[in-house]
Amino acid sequence: MITNRANRLEHVHSDIRGPLYTESQRMRSEGIDVLRLNTGNPATFGFTMPDSVKNALLNNADKAVAYCDLKGMPEARQAILNYHLSKGFKDITIDDIYIGNGVSELVSMCLTALLNDGDEVLIPAPSYSLWTNSTYIAGGKPVFYTCDESSNWYPDIDDMRKKITSKTRAVVIINPNNPTGAVYPKEVLEKIIALARENNLIIFSDEIYDRLLMDGVEHISTASLAPDMLVITMNGLSKSHCICGFRCGWMVISGSKGKADDYVEGIFQLAAMRLCSNALTQLVIPAALDDFESTRAMMIPGGRLYEQREATMRELAKIEGISCVKNSAAFYVFPKLDIKKFNITNDKKFAFDLLHEKQIFIVPGSGFDWQTPDHFRIVMLPEPEQMAKAVRDIGDFLKDYRQ
Ligand SMILES: Cc1ncc(COP(=O)(O)O)c(C=O)c1O
Repeated sequence: MITNRANRLEHVHSDIRGPLYTESQRMRSEGIDVLRLNTGNPATFGFTMPDSVKNALLNNADKAVAYCDLKGMPEARQAILNYHLSKGFKDITIDDIYIGNGVSELVSMCLTALLNDGDEVLIPAPSYSLWTNSTYIAGGKPVFYTCDESSNWYPDIDDMRKKITSKTRAVVIINPNNPTGAVYPKEVLEKIIALARENNLIIFSDEIYDRLLMDGVEHISTASLAPDMLVITMNGLSKSHCICGFRCGWMVISGSKGKADDYVEGIFQLAAMRLCSNALTQLVIPAALDDFESTRAMMIPGGRLYEQREATMRELAKIEGISCVKNSAAFYVFPKLDIKKFNITNDKKFAFDLLHEKQIFIVPGSGFDWQTPDHFRIVMLPEPEQMAKAVRDIGDFLKDYRQ
């Protein structure tokens, strides 16, 4: 008997861990040293967990032996509550907080609980494929709204408005954004909120990079501007405390919960089914949320992420045929290629060719549901020197590259 995968997986895609990844693994197995600029995984580039996190884990491990509350340990949820109250969330309690095995698990949970077949979710393009793939798997249909490169990669509100239909259930905001590193100002968020309010949409706000800010930019949580709307905010420690492998994320359900009792009950059902999320990692949440300094130190002049961003931008500016909006958060940039100059018609081929010729693994724009083959994402995690060399190598590769 031939067994096929479920139809729901037909459109699920990952270029971060897809065919390019498989090819890079093959090359590595042959002893070729590949620079993997594909994942935002700081520990693979020598970032270590802060002492605050390490001590909280080592000193408390005995407390994490049993299944804990299905929403998460009370001490951890209290710390999360305090954090979000300090960011201007209103009328939330620890009952509105669910801890999960990373934001990844919670995204899947809240979309599975919401969507019926054919329901639509507005998702940014470009965007990290988690939301898109989870929508497909939940039986929904991702509908992409454009983020506008000529306006600092802010969401194009007119485009968003045009994409709303009678089937639209929710809008996803990723702020700060992956892959563009953009941080949205209050006016942009207010326009999205107004549109969601007019059309009765749930807002999902993925704010996992909210502490990774540069250049004095301030992060505003969507929920703080929309106390009357159902907003589900995602956050976690993978990036801010460089502990992706801990699988530690959470969501906060805020706003008009009264009208969403049944939906919230559905989320509860799914959280109950998986018993609880990893309790060991929950032990570190209070200490981590008390320790902003270790994150901040990476983002200021002299800090690793800041200097890596500077090195990346400086070297990108020297490449003819590339332009790039400077990011002010996270550790990604999404440069634009002059596809006429390089005659590029297929961005995956561009990525494969770069991998083979320079042993650098970047993810093409199509991996972020960007429709034209003119962008790619760089993960800026190597040390500044190595980062600068990698970008120079990309420039060198492009000198003679024509598809
Ligand atoms: C925007 C965004 N959301 C969520 C995640 C996944 O987070 P977690 O490690 O908590 O599952 C990532 C990982 O890169 C991300 O970029």
